[in-house]
Amino acid sequence: MNAATAPGKIILFGEHAVVYGRPALAVPVTQVQVSVEVVDSPDAETWIEAPCISLHTTFSALSPTHPLRAVIESVFAALNIAPFPPLHITIHSSIPVASGLGSGAAVSVALIRALTDFAQRPMPADEVNALAYEIEKLHHGTPSGIDNTVISYAKPVYFVRGQPIQTFNVARPFSLVIADTGIAAPTKESVGDVRKLWEADKPRWEALFDRVGEIVRAAKNAIETGATDSLGALMDANHALLQEMTVSSPELDRLVLAAKTSGALGAKLSGGGRGGNMLALVRPAEAEAVASALKSAGAKSTLMTVIQ
Ligand code: MEV
Repeated sequence: MNAATAPGKIILFGEHAVVYGRPALAVPVTQVQVSVEVVDSPDAETWIEAPCISLHTTFSALSPTHPLRAVIESVFAALNIAPFPPLHITIHSSIPVASGLGSGAAVSVALIRALTDFAQRPMPADEVNALAYEIEKLHHGTPSGIDNTVISYAKPVYFVRGQPIQTFNVARPFSLVIADTGIAAPTKESVGDVRKLWEADKPRWEALFDRVGEIVRAAKNAIETGATDSLGALMDANHALLQEMTVSSPELDRLVLAAKTSGALGAKLSGGGRGGNMLALVRPAEAEAVASALKSAGAKSTLMTVIQ
């Protein structure tokens, strides 16, 4: 048996603007993950089981553009193995789908690793990342590549589209509470809507993206110098810009407000928006109070993580 896992991810700063060449900061979230097992199939067909999305199917029954089919085909093409042997693939995930935690990219990365291990041809992270990016294009249309990069390398990243991976140092650990609105919101839709608005008024949107870029650079500096309390105000400012970009929602705004009024130093939506997750910067002593305020304000689930 060959098994592989991949973590979730959360964007700290810079979502959406990152699609347009501005930097963004993101970290892996290891409390949630995808695991994939690959074994020889007991019959002549390749079977895929993903109980978390009620999927039980053969490879040939998947549509030609299905991301799982695309991962399997691209891995064996990259390994020059044709035809590939019949397999039994099982996918488990604790990452909620369409929630901003990178579930699609994590499935791709874990599946690529499990298949390449099965073929006894493990790939380095940069090759895994390049393959996962091709699959992200099927999920998202015009992805920046940040999700697959954070998840493939499982490291904090300061990401600029098209540039080699840069990581960052955390001078002083800081605590986040992440809360899920429970509303599934495909990234493809919010990214597509932003693109239409950008096309209709490029000067206005480029200026918005520039302001996000400045926040991201200031946040990186604060993280690297240990000025972590100042991240709160930067999160608030980034959330206000995301509201202006139309990617927040009443539910996200309610959770952001609940976090702030229960003691968080700052809060913002994270990922594609419109639903999915938000995050709040907290002092460790206040984490429980903020998490419980978020639950009372409608969060479906919360998790706490320390970035170090
Ligand atoms: C999705 O996690 C982040 C977005 O910026 C899209 C992307 O970067 O591809 C909204």
